[in-house]
Amino acid sequence: MTKSIKDIDKNYVMNTYNRYDLEIVEGMGVNCYDVDGKEYIDLSSGIGVNSLGFCDMGWVASVTQQVCKLNHTSNLFYSQPCALLAKAICERTGCKKVFFANSGAEANEGAVKLARKYSFDKYGKGRDKIITLVNSFHGRTITTLAATGQDVFHNYFFPFTEGFKYAKANDFKSVEKLIDESVCAVMMELVQGEGGVIALDKEFVTSVAGLCNKKDVLLIVDEVQTGVGRTGKFLASEHFNIKPDITTLAKGLGGGLPIGAVLAGEKCADTLGFSMHGTTFGGNPIVCAGANYVLARIDDDFLFSVEQKGEYFKEKLEEIEEIESVSGLGLMLGLKLKSKISSDVVKEGIKKGIIMLTAKEKVRLLPPLVITYDEIDKAVSMIKSILEN
Ligand SMILES: Cc1ncc(COP(=O)(O)O)c(C=O)c1O
Repeated sequence: MTKSIKDIDKNYVMNTYNRYDLEIVEGMGVNCYDVDGKEYIDLSSGIGVNSLGFCDMGWVASVTQQVCKLNHTSNLFYSQPCALLAKAICERTGCKKVFFANSGAEANEGAVKLARKYSFDKYGKGRDKIITLVNSFHGRTITTLAATGQDVFHNYFFPFTEGFKYAKANDFKSVEKLIDESVCAVMMELVQGEGGVIALDKEFVTSVAGLCNKKDVLLIVDEVQTGVGRTGKFLASEHFNIKPDITTLAKGLGGGLPIGAVLAGEKCADTLGFSMHGTTFGGNPIVCAGANYVLARIDDDFLFSVEQKGEYFKEKLEEIEEIESVSGLGLMLGLKLKSKISSDVVKEGIKKGIIMLTAKEKVRLLPPLVITYDEIDKAVSMIKSILEN
């Protein structure tokens, strides 16, 4: 890697990331290249973002056409890419209205505001608590850190936003115990990503959804990591046969440009009115042009292929002796290792030319959704050789 870039970064960028000793300069499909031209197979998608891989030709064309036409307007005006993206998302998911933000955390912030306003309108003050799950992850803003059910994130930045209570995942009684008159929403990831790629039990999820419906408590599903095809369905909630009141998206929706989205169902589609929420960059035409292309590509055949490739990848990984088990759905996989330390495996992978992630004690794989069977075979044999050394 170019030493000067590392030095400049270390000197001038806040030291909040523990970067690997790798400077990626270009990429195409599932492969990227460092400054020396060394090739890497990427099983991270920039943490679930590059759903179509690096620089997909169609995505590049859509984005560049838009760059040359109109870069930004502000939300004081209408623009075609934003309106068409909202329509496509609603038609695809059955939600009724969308608010566009710039990141997953910001989408979750919007969801919290939406749920609290819905409850305030109907029940008045004091019904503002939100139940989230232990081991969840919802973002890095003060509110989404508070929403995150992990003590390790509740440090330094006091005071955090009030009003979050944490229930145990897959323990319906623990949710039931916390749902009282003060609760306006339950928020959860259906596959806990940062928490270790753990899919929730179907029975738990449907029971919580039923209870929320009965009590007019809004169900918020955080699909920032699981949404837009990652699990082999457009939304992970389809695996669980539930219709959340609010769904949040980000990461894979933009295919490589920053976007977040709050999807509101029937109940709360008109809850946020004029001047109640906003953001300068939300619905930016270039970002929405990229997202429109991603949505057009992720059709039913594409989703079916993600499901199939996910199963194939899982089966192949399960054959590796050092892997104790493989969790997750679709192309969101967590590898529990028998004896190796996941962070060491990821470091070794980078040396060998394969990019992977960790999630708690697991190795986490979020490959581009366009990965081919040959590329999966290649990745499996590289992982095998790393784990058997
Ligand atoms: C489930 C979930 N929610 C929210 C976030 C936060 O998203 P962002 O980093 O775009 O703010 C993440 C990021 O990893 C996530 O996985």
